Amino acid sequence: MISVRDAYTSWATSYDHDRNSTRDLDQQVTIQLLGPQRAEQLLELGCGTGKNTQFLATIGTHVHALDLTEAMLARAQAKVSASNVTFALADLTQPWPCPNQTYDLIVANLVLEHIADLEFIFAEVRRCLKPGGRFFLCELHPAKQYQGLQAYFTRDEAEVRVPAYLHHLTDYLDAAATNALRLRQLREWWPTDDRACPPRLLSLLFEG
Ligand SMILES: C[S@@+](CC[C@H](N)C(=O)[O-])C[C@H]1O[C@@H](n2cnc3c(N)ncnc32)[C@H](O)[C@@H]1O
Repeated sequence: MISVRDAYTSWATSYDHDRNSTRDLDQQVTIQLLGPQRAEQLLELGCGTGKNTQFLATIGTHVHALDLTEAMLARAQAKVSASNVTFALADLTQPWPCPNQTYDLIVANLVLEHIADLEFIFAEVRRCLKPGGRFFLCELHPAKQYQGLQAYFTRDEAEVRVPAYLHHLTDYLDAAATNALRLRQLREWWPTDDRACPPRLLSLLFEG
């Protein structure tokens, strides 16, 4: 099976241009929900090609953006010229290169499906978040995961499925509760108005 890093190294060349309604919906949701928020120090987990980083730079005084894949990060660095953004290569499954209690807002979009151990992620959020800080995530909805959907792209006419792990709603809520993060908002999102379909995205906002 292809690794997450190799998959995104290959996907980096077309990630921004492929037809991808999940990516586009995530961007709309993030702007809608975080638009009114402000943060002194903002940490972005799994920034990818910087799709959301450009927007986050408008609500954060300083944005620190992390990603596992050099090729994705290189695209982000080429795209995002805002002087208040710094990028770093980091594997979120290992202790993060961040001091304790630094960030007012930590943001994760479409990245946690690639990480098996949610508990570790929430423990690192807890460590890096200032008291009273917020953690926002927007991920593929578990209902879509139950149907077999996961991040994928096409290369040489073959579908490449990026390794993914199933996270139930209770997995997110339990990991948050264990780390003393309180749920402030839960929303479900559809790419069209067809609510007969399962929702595509789940967004959660927690407070430390
Ligand atoms: C679907 S992309 C999402 C990128 C961006 N957040 C967005 O919404 O467009 C997933 C990103 O997560 C990154 N990623 C996956 N596993 C990771 C890990 N263990 N540590 C850091 N980044 C990771 C990948 O390299 C990729 O750039």
